[in-house]
Amino acid sequence: MLPFYGRRLSRNTKNFQLDSLKSFEFFFDTNRSTFIEKFSLLKTTPLNLEIGFGTGENLVFQSQKYKHENFIACDPFISGSLKLKKKIESEDLSNIFFTNLDYFELYKLINRLTFRKIYILFPDPWPKKRHKKRRLINLEFISSLKKVISCDSKIFIATDDQDYANQIKKLFLNEKFFDRELFSSNYTHFCNNILCPTKYFRKAMNLKKKVNLFIFKQNKKKN
Ligand SMILES: C[S@@+](CC[C@H](N)C(=O)[O-])C[C@H]1O[C@@H](n2cnc3c(N)ncnc32)[C@H](O)[C@@H]1O
Repeated sequence: MLPFYGRRLSRNTKNFQLDSLKSFEFFFDTNRSTFIEKFSLLKTTPLNLEIGFGTGENLVFQSQKYKHENFIACDPFISGSLKLKKKIESEDLSNIFFTNLDYFELYKLINRLTFRKIYILFPDPWPKKRHKKRRLINLEFISSLKKVISCDSKIFIATDDQDYANQIKKLFLNEKFFDRELFSSNYTHFCNNILCPTKYFRKAMNLKKKVNLFIFKQNKKKN
């Protein structure tokens, strides 16, 4: 099975944009994977991860809020990376390291790191029955997460797709490894500066859709 379903590149992306992205100091791909090894040496600052950052709205928001923490982020959609690059330059940020690798490709590089906070905001819902197997959050994903968290880690997941929300809840709670810190179905966390009201949050809110937010942590009793 392919690790990623979706568009990697917009049709109007120019070669010079790709070249400038590839040489950007905060961007890495498999060719610059040694970067991750250097990065893992930075053990003194808390490290966070965002999976599927879109255009980087939540990433920039969190990195400005937690200036002394570092953020690694992945999303294969290159147009999002180009937008994020612009934001990093204009806001002069230096604590975000991002890649166009998909999560499972990145995981091969980072599985010796642990993250304090992991954000997965509005993962693609793949609502059609025949496409559900494309969803990011599945058993394989959950078992990979166990290797990149510590006892203080928190995993933030938001979705406006009720079927995906049910799947997420079941998968995490079936694994005795995780415990819930919060299940919420209102907009509070997005409206009070804990999470950024991203494009997909705003879409859901405009359509008056319920947004399920989960915060999971490691189950200390069972581990
Ligand atoms: C619906 S968008 C949400 C974007 C953003 N988090 C937001 O809230 O606006 C889902 C994003 O996940 C990315 N994505 C899909 N599969 C992924 C994977 N396997 N690894 C990393 N990102 C992925 C897509 O490219 C897309 O940008």
